[in-house]
Amino acid sequence: MKFAGFAVFVIVAALHINPSSSVTNEQDLAALQAIQQAWAPTSFSWSGDPCESLWLGVTCDPTSSNVIKLELPSQSIRGSLPLQIGDLTNLQTLDLSYNGNLTGTLPLELFQLANLEELFLQNCGLFGTIPNDLGKLAKLTYLALNQNFFTGPIPTTVGQLSEMFWFDLSYNQMSGNLPLQLANLTKARHFHLHVNNFSGIIPTGIFSAGQPLVHLLLYNNSFEGPVPSDIGNLTALDILRLDFNQFSSVPDSLTEMVTVTSLQLDHNSITGEVVNVSSLTRLQYLYLGHNQYTSGVLPSWLLSLVNLTTLDVENGGLQGPLPASLFALQNLEIVHLGYNHLNGTLDLSLASPVLVEVDMQQNNFTGLIGDFSGSLNLEGNDICSANANLPNNACGGGSASPNLAPEPSSSCGCSSGLSSNPTAGSSSCVCSYPVSGLLNFTALKVSLDANAISSMQSGYVESIPLLSSANQVSILVISSSTATLSIFPNNKPFWELSEANTITSLISSKSILFADVGPYIYIPSGPYFPPGPSTKSGLGVAAKAGIAVAAVVFFLLIIIVAVYALRQKKRAEKAEIISKPFASWVAKQEDQDAAPKLKGARFFTLAEMKKATNNFSQAQEIGAGGYGKVYKATLPSGEQVAIKRSQASSRQGAAEFKNEIELLSRLHHKNLVELVGFCFEEQMLIYEYLPNGTLREALSGSTNVVMDWPRRLQAAVDSARGLAYLHTEANPPIIHRDVKSSNILLDEKLVAKVADFGLSKLAPEEGGVGHVSTQVKGTLGYLDPEYYTTQRLSDKSDVYSFGVVILELITSRQPIEHGRFIVREVRSALQRGGLPALRESLVDLKIEKACPDSQLKPLLDLALRCVEESAALRPSMKQVTKELEAIVGEFEGGIEGARNDYIPNYKKEEPEVPLYDSSSFQYSGGISATVEPK
Ligand SMILES: *[C@@H]1O[C@H](CO)[C@@H](O)[C@H](O)[C@H]1NC(C)=O
Ligand SMILES: *[C@@H]1O[C@H](CO)[C@@H](O)[C@H](O)[C@H]1NC(C)=O
Ligand SMILES: *[C@@H]1O[C@H](CO)[C@@H](O)[C@H](O)[C@H]1NC(C)=O
Ligand SMILES: *[C@@H]1O[C@H](CO)[C@@H](O)[C@H](O)[C@H]1NC(C)=O
Ligand SMILES: *[C@@H]1O[C@H](CO)[C@@H](O)[C@H](O)[C@H]1NC(C)=O
Ligand SMILES: *[C@@H]1O[C@H](CO)[C@@H](O)[C@H](O)[C@H]1NC(C)=O
Repeated sequence: MKFAGFAVFVIVAALHINPSSSVTNEQDLAALQAIQQAWAPTSFSWSGDPCESLWLGVTCDPTSSNVIKLELPSQSIRGSLPLQIGDLTNLQTLDLSYNGNLTGTLPLELFQLANLEELFLQNCGLFGTIPNDLGKLAKLTYLALNQNFFTGPIPTTVGQLSEMFWFDLSYNQMSGNLPLQLANLTKARHFHLHVNNFSGIIPTGIFSAGQPLVHLLLYNNSFEGPVPSDIGNLTALDILRLDFNQFSSVPDSLTEMVTVTSLQLDHNSITGEVVNVSSLTRLQYLYLGHNQYTSGVLPSWLLSLVNLTTLDVENGGLQGPLPASLFALQNLEIVHLGYNHLNGTLDLSLASPVLVEVDMQQNNFTGLIGDFSGSLNLEGNDICSANANLPNNACGGGSASPNLAPEPSSSCGCSSGLSSNPTAGSSSCVCSYPVSGLLNFTALKVSLDANAISSMQSGYVESIPLLSSANQVSILVISSSTATLSIFPNNKPFWELSEANTITSLISSKSILFADVGPYIYIPSGPYFPPGPSTKSGLGVAAKAGIAVAAVVFFLLIIIVAVYALRQKKRAEKAEIISKPFASWVAKQEDQDAAPKLKGARFFTLAEMKKATNNFSQAQEIGAGGYGKVYKATLPSGEQVAIKRSQASSRQGAAEFKNEIELLSRLHHKNLVELVGFCFEEQMLIYEYLPNGTLREALSGSTNVVMDWPRRLQAAVDSARGLAYLHTEANPPIIHRDVKSSNILLDEKLVAKVADFGLSKLAPEEGGVGHVSTQVKGTLGYLDPEYYTTQRLSDKSDVYSFGVVILELITSRQPIEHGRFIVREVRSALQRGGLPALRESLVDLKIEKACPDSQLKPLLDLALRCVEESAALRPSMKQVTKELEAIVGEFEGGIEGARNDYIPNYKKEEPEVPLYDSSSFQYSGGISATVEPK
């Protein structure tokens, strides 16, 4: 529908090729020009007449030439919401989601848009309260203000929004009670109010009969008192999440909500017996644990919930034996009954084939019968003290990785920033730049298995007219509730910018829902800027659709070429502006001391750099990345240095460049790469030269460096010390933001040093909110999922990435290899068979014999704590350093000796004799990798 309208409009526009007379309604034109000015410079080019020249993200009514849609999600918009937005009086859809630098408060003018039906401002940097004028948007059906920094209560004028369908204020800092006026939203199907500070008792009267709510998400707030009894009026509800509050009781009317398939009441203060929800026969996902129930046996009515896939009654006061028939429930995949007082024999003999995970830790089972091959955790039960030799690593805390989908495996060695396009088929390679981001499921009905993945893939194909095959949608599950999404152009390298904008807008606008899986938030991995011109493609579509369409496409191509050319021009202009902050430095070029006040770092001219690198000759090149190239050079003093020269096209912002110089020149630590100087004419950074390359290269064997076990441990300690210095001793503290093995360099003595502070951000002030909000940066595979989801950065994000680096040291694998994610691989190997299985399948053969369990085990334990999904559960970098030092300390003779022997072509044999007897080894405890019930 939308597409057809668009095509008609293109033809209409094509008939009016007279650029001097403007087509667009004058008031709208003026408003758009004011907006353009307010946001200048923008990453996209707006020129000519908006309706005629098809401005990116602007949709006009073809008959009246009024602007009816403005959709610019994830377009790097910087600034605030301009007041003139209120002049676009015919606007029906406004989507400025995922523009992290769109900050400020909501201007009252926004609420003059009486025709507005859809308002999407997700994942921006907006703050302040939501004004009472909200009530003026009487036609609003979609309101998504999630993932901002809004505070204060929901205004009571919300009652005037009687057309509301989707109401999402989640992931903000809003407070106060829920207003009774929500009762007036009688058409609403989605209340997403989770992860805020809402509090108090939910007033009775909000929920009325016939209200079509399907998702009611109130988790992670501070609600208290009883859940109101009128909740039972919601007879269309599918997902109910009330978890992580302080509710004291649930009403009997809960039993009337017979349509519910996912119910989470865990982590509240509910007393009395476990509420009997046997009438909710469609339940698939049930979390009841962590309340204050009176003790009792497992309620027998649970056995009648035949569609149950996931059951959690952790810490639920359960005692006595467990009926074997529980595990016979034919759809049951996951059972969490840990931290109870269950006793007797655990009988898994009836376990259904789909059961994959049973967590019974900290109970009182004394026996186990039945064959069960999934993940079983019996840690802390009597049976483990009597007989620790159970199958499935059951006494070692069998780690959890439930039934996740298999990942695609293909790799074409595409250059940085590009990935191999699955539509090219298995025998050929097309390196492409997909529209990509993270899917974070806020409530699940099923586990993210292969069925869920394929249902999501078809969801995207059905809802995005630009897609024709499920191969274009690649989904990689990275945890129990998150997955990465990549949408590839069909057998070509790039999407057009307008196509990418359409795709992101469709996702942002909630047009793509997965009724079978559950609601999610999407977080783009960044604005869509393909690393090259993208004008060659598109003719394939034209060929298919005949001459008329071909003409239109041709017309579009011309526009795109023009837009691209203009954009390049703008970029060049921008580059000029960007160099201005350094103008004052240039002026003082003769007087080097008076230029920037930087301690230690020296100032070099472009001429000096050219001379030192033999005019940047290829022979001097020692590395390259998205940013540009690295050259080895010798200064006139004889000092060897590495020069990082940014490419003109991918030059970092002046601010970032300056930031990096200033940061680096202040930092001095033996485990940080030292900044020698800089050259601003071409944005070059001059570092001390480290002859042994990166840790990544050393691990992959592409250099002469042999990373034996003691050296790996020492590299871990070294880099941990560097990072701990950044976090705790640098003033102000610094979060690295891109910790990875290719950012850790090795000097001539193989001392590891942390490099590349281009992405650094100052850490939050002591006593501040504890996080910095900022656009997500970093490298896939090392990215902290919590940071990715919330965009709230903390030093724990570095800890996560560092945990991945430790796993690399152990396995020598890259974090994502052939579509497999190292964290999951390690967890699932441990789950399969503990440390022996890990040694067999994942530990690098070159060191497998040399690393004793006494070091490998605590190191793994530490790495897995670093990559906990919840940042709060991760140790600090300081703690990590301490533990690593303790682990290294165990190595007889220490490390320094080994180091001093080092000669560049070191090829000494590994120690032959393992330091332990594997047959008697018991892997016990430590590894905690339970999936958070979220
Ligand atoms: C926000 O601004 C910062 C600093 O200039 C920049 O690095 C970042 O990419 C911007 N974010 C977005 C979403 O454009
Ligand atoms: C509820 O909605 C109706 C329109 O459907 C409106 O007239 C009324 O004022 C609203 N009530 C409240 C309390 O906002
Ligand atoms: C809603 O539920 C309450 C409590 O269960 C009940 O008394 C009331 O009649 C219901 N209201 C409607 C309109 O159905
Ligand atoms: C269980 O699920 C199946 C398939 O989704 C459905 O057809 C059936 O009605 C459900 N059973 C109950 C009791 O709701
Ligand atoms: C199991 O626990 C129940 C209740 O705590 C107790 O009465 C019973 O004796 C226990 N049974 C065994 C075999 O220990
Ligand atoms: C487990 O059972 C033993 C004896 O049956 C009892 O002494 C102990 O307190 C029980 N522990 C728990 C956690 O219930």
